[in-house]
Amino acid sequence: MTWNINDARDQKGRIAIVTGSNIGLGYDTALALAGKDCRLVLACRNMDKAKAAQRQILVRYPKAHIECQTLDLSSLKSVRSFATTFLKSHKKLDLLINNAGIMMPPYSLSEDGFESQLAANYLGHFALTGLLLPVLAKTPNSRVVSLSSLAHNWGEIRFDDLNFKSGYSKRGAYGQSKLACLMFAYELNRRLQKAGLQTLSVAAHPGVAATNLAQHFPRFLTAFFPLVGQSASSGALPTLYAALGDDIDGGDYCGPRSMRQMRGAPVKVGSTRASKDQEAAKRLWNLSEELTGVSFLS
Ligand SMILES: NC(=O)c1ccc[n+]([C@@H]2O[C@H](COP(=O)([O-])OP(=O)(O)OC[C@H]3O[C@@H](n4cnc5c(N)ncnc54)[C@H](OP(=O)(O)O)[C@@H]3O)[C@@H](O)[C@H]2O)c1
Repeated sequence: MTWNINDARDQKGRIAIVTGSNIGLGYDTALALAGKDCRLVLACRNMDKAKAAQRQILVRYPKAHIECQTLDLSSLKSVRSFATTFLKSHKKLDLLINNAGIMMPPYSLSEDGFESQLAANYLGHFALTGLLLPVLAKTPNSRVVSLSSLAHNWGEIRFDDLNFKSGYSKRGAYGQSKLACLMFAYELNRRLQKAGLQTLSVAAHPGVAATNLAQHFPRFLTAFFPLVGQSASSGALPTLYAALGDDIDGGDYCGPRSMRQMRGAPVKVGSTRASKDQEAAKRLWNLSEELTGVSFLS
């Protein structure tokens, strides 16, 4: 028996933040959560796109309760402003879905001086989670879901040059950012447990899903995604399983079960030895605190 969205309990009275939810996997995650009566905060960098997604979800679920809030994960200023606004207006947070991401863009640095994929995919979510921890910690049965990727397999944390100041590799930087997301999910769970907090940290990956993510690929390669991959709604299922599954434990990693985890029903999956390196995870955590100026559970 594999998990299906129909297996998820009703989420009435619960609230979720989904980052990067105007399109792709984040949108389908938000749509499914709305279908379960979960209140939503669409945390997006472009408000026009967020409002369009809100309208689309409301067509399907007219009674859904959806807020849109600006969040640019590649800007620590924006992350802080988002968290401050959220904490002022909400007393609880049941689900934080750290979904937003970019893949293999040309080299650029964020306004804080971080390589763009590291900034948006990992460091922004690290800071966001830390800033929202007070409200997550006091919400019973809360969960943080971090999006990783099959790309974590080829990832390597370049502690001596995290920002690829030399020898930029689009693929290497994407792999690094997604490995960092997975190491963070595992390390966060260990730290939550150690602190005696009930919040669970889990990770998920969608396999290969046909979304906008491949926009920086050469054209012949973008054809690969729809051919091999699954739809965005299927790709969102591992995230939804991680967020809502009754049999999920902290530190679990969910992904598709077929075709070398590229597609199929969501199951618990394994990950590389590097992703489980606890010394490297502690080192990455310390460095992330230093770079973002957000310290928590340390
Ligand atoms: N699709 C796949 O096969 C695949 C495979 C493995 C992992 N993943 C992971 O799944 C997640 C979702 O990807 P997707 O496939 O749904 O891609 P997508 O269709 O390109 O959607 C990405 C979302 O992230 C948002 N985003 C990007 N940078 C942001 C920033 N700085 N601040 C806030 N939001 C930002 C985008 O906003 P805009 O619309 O404004 O750009 C969009 O809403 C990513 O973390 C990705 O690494 C995807």
